Amino acid sequence: MAQRAAITGWGAYVPARVLTNADLERMVETSDEWIVTRTGIRERRIAGPDETTVRMATEAAQRALATATLEPDALDLVIVATTTPDYLMPATASLLQAALGATRAGAFDLVAACSGFVYALSVGAQFIMAGTARAVLVVGVDALTRWLDFTDRSTCVLFGDGAGAVVLEASDADEGVLSTVHGSDGSGAMHLYLEGFPELLMSNGALPPKRPFMRMDGREVFRFSVRIIGEATLEAVQRAGLTLDEIDLLIPHQANLRIIDAAVKRLGLPWEKVWVNLDRYGNTSAASIPLGIAEAAERGVLQPGMNVVLVAFGAGLAWAASVVRWGATGVRRGG
Ligand code: COA
Repeated sequence: MAQRAAITGWGAYVPARVLTNADLERMVETSDEWIVTRTGIRERRIAGPDETTVRMATEAAQRALATATLEPDALDLVIVATTTPDYLMPATASLLQAALGATRAGAFDLVAACSGFVYALSVGAQFIMAGTARAVLVVGVDALTRWLDFTDRSTCVLFGDGAGAVVLEASDADEGVLSTVHGSDGSGAMHLYLEGFPELLMSNGALPPKRPFMRMDGREVFRFSVRIIGEATLEAVQRAGLTLDEIDLLIPHQANLRIIDAAVKRLGLPWEKVWVNLDRYGNTSAASIPLGIAEAAERGVLQPGMNVVLVAFGAGLAWAASVVRWGATGVRRGG
């Protein structure tokens, strides 16, 4: 059998500071009741000044390497999915590679907004399946709250910060990434974007009219998200040669409980098979799925042989899905 890319390590990091719905009630005209019934979110984490994108990525990555019992210099490649790097140049992945001491690894960033982690997982898996790499670190990290307008109640209640990471390793066993699906509809790009960023770039050093902030047409994004979770999930399951009945866990991007609920009902999946943690973290963009993986693994929900669907969607508008068969970590390297 061709070489598979198995998830052998996982880790997550969320900032210490918690922002509750009650806190937001004091900042904008909103209520805990509105936020919970419309989104399912109760609290989110906000990165402090020292919790940079690189720092959060490093914490999550170190935990992932520890669970994989892999030394940093065994990594061939570091891929970081982020839309909120500390610098546009250099890549976050290079800073992370140095922080980890992953001396042999190549490093690059990948931008696909909330879908970034699943895209990056797929890219990392292709490197392994092609035989070009044996160990790849894949990180999803975002600090979207730095780009939020905390006077805009339609966006500021939705997002939080965090990081998640997995280690992918070559495996001869029937496990790991079984299928991947990617898509994009750029005609909807302006439904979710950073308003004012081009003006900042074009201002040539002069102060731009105002600071860039995230803007969103929530209803359009909602409709798109419900449709795409179902479509991308079914395609990924089919490409893996499985049926929906054979799926043990769905870890969807954590944007809104109503989006997940509507999509899961359309799919006809039992709710017990769906991982939800957005009540505690809100939408952490590229971090949401690896955060879910790390939590589900740590709580023993993920068991060897389980088929797991990862499905993400967001700005672009872009989406990605993957079916992963959870493996028996430690067995491959004789641990
Ligand atoms: N608190 C109180 N009221 C709010 C509010 C808030 N935080 N945000 C919006 N409202 C108001 C609106 O102003 C509107 O008032 P109006 O009727 O007087 O104009 C009312 O609530 C209804 O707004 P609407 O946009 O229809 O609400 P909704 O049910 O569609 O929920 C979202 C809004 C943003 C929660 C929902 O559209 C959504 O989740 N969309 C997807 C967003 C997303 O997940 N994006 C990221 C994808 S990766």
